[in-house]
Amino acid sequence: MTHSDKPESSLQQVYLNGDFLPLRQACVPVMDRGFLFGDGVYEVIPAYGGQLFRLDEHLQRLDNSLTAIYIQPPHSRDEWREILQRLIQSESDADLSIYLQVTRGAADKRDHAIPVGIRPTVFAMCSRILQPDPRLFEQGIAAVTRDDIRWQRCDIKAITLLAAVLLRQEAADEKSMEAILIRDGLATEGAASNLFIVHQGVLITPPKSQSLLPGITRDLVLELAQEAGIPNREQDIPAELLQQSEELWLTSSTKEVMPVTRLNGHSVCGGRPGPVWRRMKELYRIRKEQLRQG
Ligand code: PDD
Repeated sequence: MTHSDKPESSLQQVYLNGDFLPLRQACVPVMDRGFLFGDGVYEVIPAYGGQLFRLDEHLQRLDNSLTAIYIQPPHSRDEWREILQRLIQSESDADLSIYLQVTRGAADKRDHAIPVGIRPTVFAMCSRILQPDPRLFEQGIAAVTRDDIRWQRCDIKAITLLAAVLLRQEAADEKSMEAILIRDGLATEGAASNLFIVHQGVLITPPKSQSLLPGITRDLVLELAQEAGIPNREQDIPAELLQQSEELWLTSSTKEVMPVTRLNGHSVCGGRPGPVWRRMKELYRIRKEQLRQG
């Protein structure tokens, strides 16, 4: 049997503009402004045991991103929920990550200015979240620091990710998993994650601003810290503090809470994930388990 002969049920179903169809049949026109200009926004939403994690928060951020780039939200909350539930229903036992993208749509001609009367392109697919190598939790991960070469509206979850691609590649070239970004002397976030440090016993993350993405995992970590009585505050992190901090973490929907123990090729934070991280990892696990149990 050739690849194209495979029965449809064995191919991954994706959502595109109202239809559920196999991934390889999903096509968008080359005039789509997502393709031509990177003119669109996205979300990455985890699902555990068939339950969408923090869906309202993700949909609120999607609305914020759409509004910021003058795209009318194409679906109501209930419609989104229905689309995404249907997408994950066939893999309800797995840990999944849903990629959801809305672009401005296709116009007749290429013009930077926003055309009127075109319909957004809506695309969603899901994939399994791969469990990280357990050694990463024993040893922590390596990161590098880089000047933040992105634009001035990092609070919008834009699909225009070339700077992040280059920054992550520079990290990979140095056998590191993430680039921690420095802007005006402050460490703001990772190329695809938010940043936390533990300094003098206090868990610190930079306040929300146009310099960083308001991460859903970031907010959850702050909430869990609050509930567990872990001292925490939102405060700018001068770049020099990264080397002096007791713990250094990166958070995202797919990576959850990752401890960093090597920075720019040198050991930091005692070279081992710290006790506050261990506690947070457990609090996070419990929260996921509660969701799985419904
Ligand atoms: N990225 N900051 C940036 C620049 C990000 O791209 C991400 C997530 C985060 C963390 O946000 P959240 O906790 O809501 O996942 C912070 C996703 C996972 C991605 O681009 O694949």
